[in-house]
Amino acid sequence: MKYEFDEIIDRIHDPFSFSAKWLHPSYILDSLGIKEVRDDVICLETADMDFRVAPEIIEDLRKLTDHGIFGYSTIPDSYRQAVCGWYERRQGWKFDKDDIFYFPGTHDAIAQLVKRYTKEGEGVIVLVPCYGYHGDVEGNNRKYVEVQMINDGNEYFTIDFDALEDACKDENNTMIIMCHPHNPTGRVFTHEELNKIADICRKNGVLIVSDEVHSDILRKGQGFEPMMKACGPEGLISCTAVNKTFNLAGLAMTNAIISDPKLKKQGADFYGMPSPFGIQAVISAYTKGDAWVDALNEYIDGNIDTCMEYIKENLPKAKLVRPEGGYSINIDFSDYGLSDEEVVDRIYRKAGVVLNSGLFFDDSRKTQVHRACLSSPRSVCLEAFERIAKEFKGC
Ligand SMILES: Cc1ncc(COP(=O)(O)O)c(C=O)c1O
Repeated sequence: MKYEFDEIIDRIHDPFSFSAKWLHPSYILDSLGIKEVRDDVICLETADMDFRVAPEIIEDLRKLTDHGIFGYSTIPDSYRQAVCGWYERRQGWKFDKDDIFYFPGTHDAIAQLVKRYTKEGEGVIVLVPCYGYHGDVEGNNRKYVEVQMINDGNEYFTIDFDALEDACKDENNTMIIMCHPHNPTGRVFTHEELNKIADICRKNGVLIVSDEVHSDILRKGQGFEPMMKACGPEGLISCTAVNKTFNLAGLAMTNAIISDPKLKKQGADFYGMPSPFGIQAVISAYTKGDAWVDALNEYIDGNIDTCMEYIKENLPKAKLVRPEGGYSINIDFSDYGLSDEEVVDRIYRKAGVVLNSGLFFDDSRKTQVHRACLSSPRSVCLEAFERIAKEFKGC
């Protein structure tokens, strides 16, 4: 393979790291009541990757550093062409370059969309378990309306269309935030599912925001259809980003695509000023990053195969399914018959592995489901499960 994903990069001691995941896992541990953790902690929680950014991007950012002036910056036409080119080439999705609206990160985009397109007190629907948009919604004094998805008992989730329709029929609910591919379930919704959702929303005047930031990270043989391509642009805004795909989250470069003329007019004054590093990173990623993303997906497939095989053999009571998109797996430990506290104690404190408790994605969900992001070198992912298996041996 042309690219190196096995290298272990020290994100704890390197003074240039600033990694939230590795330097600040305490917010997760605090929330689970864990007071102390092993020094050799392994963090597989926050959805960023421990791989060095594609060399093509680093080389361009070095040239930018050599330019030596990092003043107020403006988005050039080449940026818009790069974004359009990537989505047309990779996902067969065509949109106008003027449909691109930059925001400093996906949360910022969603929070601003909620503020612009809904009114105070209105409800915003989310399909749970789901990556948390609480701040974007409740921070704007809107209601967070949870619609439960259907779990087949093995962590494979589908949409409860009756429950969704009920929520959409409530006139107070005016927006849905779709997460596609869905985090944390790993679902990539089908053409039929997307159209069913769009039909229900449009019939009831519910605006759709489709968060597609994980759409380039797909499992072997899995296609992806952008919601706007599947259902057309009416009443729909999509959020895309290099943040997850290229491990550039720290540069906070998100693009909302607004092709519906009415919504575009309403959002015409959205304006943000990215850093020159963010602008260059997007141009380089979307024009030179194809081979790296393909190699990345191949490596993540290997991580998932290796870890799932290991879990099957060494944690035989754990339940999980292969994700369709993204790099995370959800592991249900409930068949071990331990208390919630005992499961947490064994994984987080004794094994020293930081995952995401299912509590982060659905307040009502049992705590014995934990999400692991397999976006680290394979040896690190495997060591995490070796340590966990040791703590569950004999249970
Ligand atoms: C589905 C989803 N949307 C948004 C975000 C946050 O994105 P950003 O860092 O661009 O705000 C995440 C981060 O994990 C995510 O998983």
